[in-house]
Amino acid sequence: MRSGSEFLDNGSVTKLIIDCDPGVDDAVALFLAFASRDLEILAVTTVGGNVGADLTARNARIIRQIAGREDVPVHAGATRPLVREPVEADHFHGESGLGDLPVFEPDAPLAAAHAVDVIVETVMAAAPGTVTLAVTGPMTNLALAIIREPALAHRLARVVVMGGARTEGGNITPSAEYNIYADPHAAHVVFSSRCPCVVLGLDATHQVRATAGRVAAIRAAGTPAAQAAAGVIDFSNGIERDLVGGRSAPMHDPCVIAYILAPHLFTTRPCGLQVETNSALTLGHTAVEFRLADPSAATVQWVTEVDADGVFGLITERLARS
Ligand code: BDR
Ligand code: CA
Repeated sequence: MRSGSEFLDNGSVTKLIIDCDPGVDDAVALFLAFASRDLEILAVTTVGGNVGADLTARNARIIRQIAGREDVPVHAGATRPLVREPVEADHFHGESGLGDLPVFEPDAPLAAAHAVDVIVETVMAAAPGTVTLAVTGPMTNLALAIIREPALAHRLARVVVMGGARTEGGNITPSAEYNIYADPHAAHVVFSSRCPCVVLGLDATHQVRATAGRVAAIRAAGTPAAQAAAGVIDFSNGIERDLVGGRSAPMHDPCVIAYILAPHLFTTRPCGLQVETNSALTLGHTAVEFRLADPSAATVQWVTEVDADGVFGLITERLARS
């Protein structure tokens, strides 16, 4: 097993908490993060989302074990959204949440503390502006952490989140993206806290498609993590063909880790962002406003363009080393 610190070799290391709901694309995001020497992963926290909270917590530990990173603690968090009833996405992620990846009971257990406690205590104990939070699932854990400790919002370096849509429409309803729809009230709490956020919505992630050549390159990297990642991406491509009518699935959540590792691959634009929480028809819609009186005061950066070859190159290169 590798220690977290043996990779801290270039003087530029991002301290990171990853809050996720694995999920096939969360799994690829975790593999990318676990393989990256320039991240110090303080904790992985899990939330109910794509599948139930028991499964997302187990799945994160399965990915951790395949990646050989049992040095990173996994903490389970919220089991249901703040207000609405849970809505899962196992039609996209399979019954287990990990597609057809063989699942097993991992050797290493969950860490004892609740995810919300870990987020609050880790960020508040660190120097201001030194911990980044990657969110690849519904934002329930972060919202609860901000409600519990409002100072957290301005103590984080930033939150990099997969969620929302502007030009692309929705992927769970006509106007809502899944992560925001699954807990729109949590997203409202997070964005209205004015914590610094980079938001990768469907406008960005739909540019990052797992074409056959890109998946073949990941598989050819040959490591256990690369093989497992290629397998879950194959599963996603099958679902994309069967349910969506496309050929290559978007790799939503890996974009969050890729942004943290290589922000030059992404173009952002300052915006205002509000979440619809009242309308049954458009629940979870993200209203993105670019017409700002003072763009320099914006707390949200909306990702508009992605270098998809660059993102897949990064995934392939990192997983080859894992
Ligand atoms: C998001 O929804 C989930 O199903 C995926 O894991 C991703 O985080 C994409 O809309
Ligand atoms: Ca996810």
